[in-house]
Amino acid sequence: MIRKPKPHRSGALPPNFSKSQIPNHLALVMDGNGRWAQERGLPRTAGHEAGEAALFDVIEGAIEVGIREVSAFAFSTENWRRSPEEVKFLMGFNRDVIRRRRDEMNELGVRIRWVGRPKRLWKSVITELEEAEKLTAENSVLTLNMCVNYGGRAEIVDAATALATDVKRGKLKLDSINEKVFARYLNEQKMSDVDLFLRSSGELRTSNFLPWQSVYAEMVFMDVLWPDVDRRVLWRALEEYAKRERRFGGV
Ligand code: FPP
Repeated sequence: MIRKPKPHRSGALPPNFSKSQIPNHLALVMDGNGRWAQERGLPRTAGHEAGEAALFDVIEGAIEVGIREVSAFAFSTENWRRSPEEVKFLMGFNRDVIRRRRDEMNELGVRIRWVGRPKRLWKSVITELEEAEKLTAENSVLTLNMCVNYGGRAEIVDAATALATDVKRGKLKLDSINEKVFARYLNEQKMSDVDLFLRSSGELRTSNFLPWQSVYAEMVFMDVLWPDVDRRVLWRALEEYAKRERRFGGV
């Protein structure tokens, strides 16, 4: 039995949005965990720990308003450059969060999918991601793309390599390549285009997150550190999104 999302702990309800004001696909760059911890004299890892609740409140909030797809940037191909201690923490943390949250996600009807490269990623993280994918494969309330060891350029280069290999082997004709065909070679071919790209912490960058999928996304940058985010920040972003006029290159 699928359960409905719980309202926000304050009891606050989402503003009235019309259906057309709700993005189909929300991308989340969960930035500012380190600064949040530093401000409190805590180790950076405490900021990541505090960021878990923020993500899952936003997911319940997303279901509540009818968003169908959320992509969360949990670990980037560039995050390997952090200190060995922080990398080790983030690997273990990702593994534990997925294990800890998957039943709850399943009860909410969330389908979990892993988006990212296997190279270098801890086997135990891959195992948990695959378990979560299996458990939630039939769910359709919302798709949660867990972007773990994900990098946008890496995704495009991998796609180009696979595509070139197919051309070389005669499986694909050079003149049949177009955007639609190329997109089939990307990490997650079933991912829809991003409508709302939301980054916390006040930084005005996309940091290699979903470049192919976000070309017409509306960008919203919030001056809140990720651990301080909850679904009320999502509501503010949705209010901003509702004001935008999306033309996709037309007039
Ligand atoms: C950026 O903060 C955040 C990350 C490196 C991604 C990790 C995200 C979480 C731990 C939140 C949710 C948890 C999971 C596993 C989905 P930062 O360290 O770059 O912060 P800073 O810019 O202040 O240093």
